Amino acid sequence: MTLQDKTAVVTGAAHGIGEALARRLAACGAGRVVLVDIDSEGVSRVAEEVGGLARVVDVCAPEQVACLIGEIQTEFGAIDYCFSNAGVAVGGGLETEVEDWCRAWEVNALAHVHLARLVIPGMASRGEGRFVITASAAGLVSNVTAGPYAVAKASAVAFAEWLAINYGDSGVKVSCLCPQGVDTRMLEADDPLMAFLRKGALSPDQVVDAVFRGLEANQFLILPHHEVADYFRRKAGDYDRWLEGMRRFRRSLSTRRDDHETIRNENVKG
Ligand SMILES: NC(=O)c1ccc[n+]([C@@H]2O[C@H](COP(=O)([O-])OP(=O)(O)OC[C@H]3O[C@@H](n4cnc5c(N)ncnc54)[C@H](O)[C@@H]3O)[C@@H](O)[C@H]2O)c1
Repeated sequence: MTLQDKTAVVTGAAHGIGEALARRLAACGAGRVVLVDIDSEGVSRVAEEVGGLARVVDVCAPEQVACLIGEIQTEFGAIDYCFSNAGVAVGGGLETEVEDWCRAWEVNALAHVHLARLVIPGMASRGEGRFVITASAAGLVSNVTAGPYAVAKASAVAFAEWLAINYGDSGVKVSCLCPQGVDTRMLEADDPLMAFLRKGALSPDQVVDAVFRGLEANQFLILPHHEVADYFRRKAGDYDRWLEGMRRFRRSLSTRRDDHETIRNENVKG
């Protein structure tokens, strides 16, 4: 990938995967990296360290996102790489308050729409550009302890597919990043699934390695954890058998039920 003179935007860049993406883009010589996050202190720190530009924006607020994109386009011209990566973990199930289901949906799904509406038309008219959505393995094969998260991430995958279908012919390359456990703040919750995922967790840098490999190969689906491809194939091959396997997996996690109940209740509000 040629990054010289290119403008890259990364949301959720104050921590974790977004921070690692911003650091790598800067280290690889991107012309300018715009780091976007709701965490003002965190994004300023990382931007200063990598020589990028920090912008404090709530990706769920369309008017803030419009100001951001307008400012970048006026100041630097076209956006070449856009990583729509910000996300939040929202756990629990039917007992989770509707406002928390909405928060999961707004950050993990609708925020990609706000950004794409502003960035993709310009890419399509120029006939080039990369738009990368960070979804999750949960978007492909669910998440047994986090209903709102799984549902929103499935929407993110569906939106990325839809963009790829509708804008691929215009030269826009859309990718969808679907990691399983990654060693970031998101994996810190004391939930039995998180404990399971921590065992096979990758570092944010390993995820960025997979992103760069995927972009070089023009891949739509970027799977840093290779086993996720097997889970996804099994689901497509025999949906009922896959569901039975997921129920078995859920039962195996419930051996730590006490921990789970406590943490799930905390997560619902957190
Ligand atoms: N860590 C994992 O195991 C894992 C697995 C699969 C997918 N993901 C996804 O990767 C992405 C990055 O997560 P991470 O693991 O680096 O977690 P993280 O918590 O370290 O980083 C998420 C970043 O998004 C920012 N953010 C949250 N809401 C925002 C908003 N409304 N506006 C602007 N910024 C906002 C946070 O401030 C934070 O800096 C997320 O979309 C997440 O769902 C993470």
